[in-house]
Amino acid sequence: MSLKRNVLDLRKRKEIVLQGGGEEAIKKQAAMGKLTARERIEAILDKDSFHEYDMFVEHQSKDFDMDKKVLHGDGVIIGTGTIYGEPVCIYAQDFTVAGGSLGLMHARKITKIMDHALKMRVPLIGINDSGGARIQEGVDSLAGYGEIFFRNTQASGVIPQLSVILGPCAGGAVYSPALTDFVFVVDNISKMFITGPEVVKTVLGEVVTMEELGGARVHSEISGNAHFFAHSEYECFEQIKKLLTFIPWSNEAKAKPFPSKPPRPEYKIEKIIPSDPTQPYDVRDVIRAVADDSDFLEIQQEFAKNIVVGFGRIDGETIGFVANQPSVLAGVLDCDSSDKAGRFIRFCDAFNIPIVTFEDMPGYLPGVEQEYMGVIRHGAKVLYAYSEATVPKITVILRKAYGGGYIAMNSRHLKADFMFAWPTAEIAVMGPEGAANIIFKKEIMAAENPEEMRKIKVAEYREKFANPYVAASKGYIDSVIEPEETRKILKHSIEVSSNKSVLTPAKKHGIPPF
Ligand code: HXC
Repeated sequence: MSLKRNVLDLRKRKEIVLQGGGEEAIKKQAAMGKLTARERIEAILDKDSFHEYDMFVEHQSKDFDMDKKVLHGDGVIIGTGTIYGEPVCIYAQDFTVAGGSLGLMHARKITKIMDHALKMRVPLIGINDSGGARIQEGVDSLAGYGEIFFRNTQASGVIPQLSVILGPCAGGAVYSPALTDFVFVVDNISKMFITGPEVVKTVLGEVVTMEELGGARVHSEISGNAHFFAHSEYECFEQIKKLLTFIPWSNEAKAKPFPSKPPRPEYKIEKIIPSDPTQPYDVRDVIRAVADDSDFLEIQQEFAKNIVVGFGRIDGETIGFVANQPSVLAGVLDCDSSDKAGRFIRFCDAFNIPIVTFEDMPGYLPGVEQEYMGVIRHGAKVLYAYSEATVPKITVILRKAYGGGYIAMNSRHLKADFMFAWPTAEIAVMGPEGAANIIFKKEIMAAENPEEMRKIKVAEYREKFANPYVAASKGYIDSVIEPEETRKILKHSIEVSSNKSVLTPAKKHGIPPF
């Protein structure tokens, strides 16, 4: 064959594979409101940057008449490309080919691109749209999942791993996303569950729709399995690209710096905090008032809203913000918010991102339900994550810092590098009301007007202890600062910490509370 004929033959072969599961299956995919795997890859990556590998891989299964079936690319597309000019590894399961089900060769393709991502130290993006383990391939499919989970774990903390759920992700398949750093879901398209509605009905007698069981909203608002919720696939792709601007390509790199920009004028710190200390406010406005261009990418926006986590920049450098949200449950730490904060802090620490903490909270949430759910072990995750983190750690106490909350939210005692407090800060074992009721109980009960006496004692306690100056007098707080100075002081603290070096005891790994 001449070179020209060889090339034409290659093109013809490629053309066939590019048809995926064929016209009918592609139509069905579109009818479900879904893009095809190839359209998804194209939309995420820079134009014409995708290079595909293993295009001609075929399944090798013979059982159940499988030897008569051609599955193009074995139902998954893998390759490399760029996003904003930076290289990434990507795979996308092709639901039009045998429902994107995972057999031996399909898994081998995924693990090949995972190995590349880890070796080359570039982020991995996995698009899940699959009926799960390919039933006809039996234990080979289970083996495939195991190989993927192992690699997800090996790559954890080395390269960022993003999972995008754009269709079903059922059974054991859910554990790959669960092992990765960020999970993206799209309304009415993503479906994630361990067992589907049919099994739930058979085993438990519960009737539930797929959407109710594992839809995008469920995982964004209730289970906390998803980190980003979008209304459309294209919105989801923008979220992926935006996230990648904030994070480094590996644990050996720093996030790319951007030109510094001042916060937008509508976010003025002095206008955010109400003068009445019992009134709530939205702590995200405080973050926006210090962040470059007031740009804040919130993570798990709809889950455990009593804590806010996400990325912004100060003077062009990526910062991980952790902030109690006084407008939700007064910003308490409970099981879910502790999980959310702990995981985010560990991501920032693994990927060299300084952490700024804004604190305003009355402590851990009490009650039978929380105790039964394990607020002790969940809450310990925050203590563990902050204590373990060696990236620059800066805390600003805005208002309340009571009890366990004071310690947990990156206190000096967990080795914060810089501790600042606004003059509105109240640092004490508990709030003035609770404290006065306990320590002045006898005086209050003996008074002619107990209610009046209680008010006097609460005021006395507030005056004496509920302020930042007792902690400042002991050196637990480095500076009491004016709120308007916050961005300037944060910027300086981050500059000063840029060569931070800490020695930690040699160990194989710690055993964080689960
Ligand atoms: C082989 C599969 C498949 C699977 C779907 N297909 N899932 N083939 N193994 N797991 C095939 C179908 O036979 C069909 O092929 C095509 O994909 C499209 O599927 P449909 O059912 O027509 O699509 P739809 O109606 O949209 O329903 C999608 C679905 C459903 C909800 C995902 O297919 C389904 O329930 N599949 C099984 C899900 C499941 O139970 N998976 C196993 C989970 S256990 P044709 O040729 O007709 O087009 C698991 C264990 C892993 O994954 C453990 C790891 C530790």
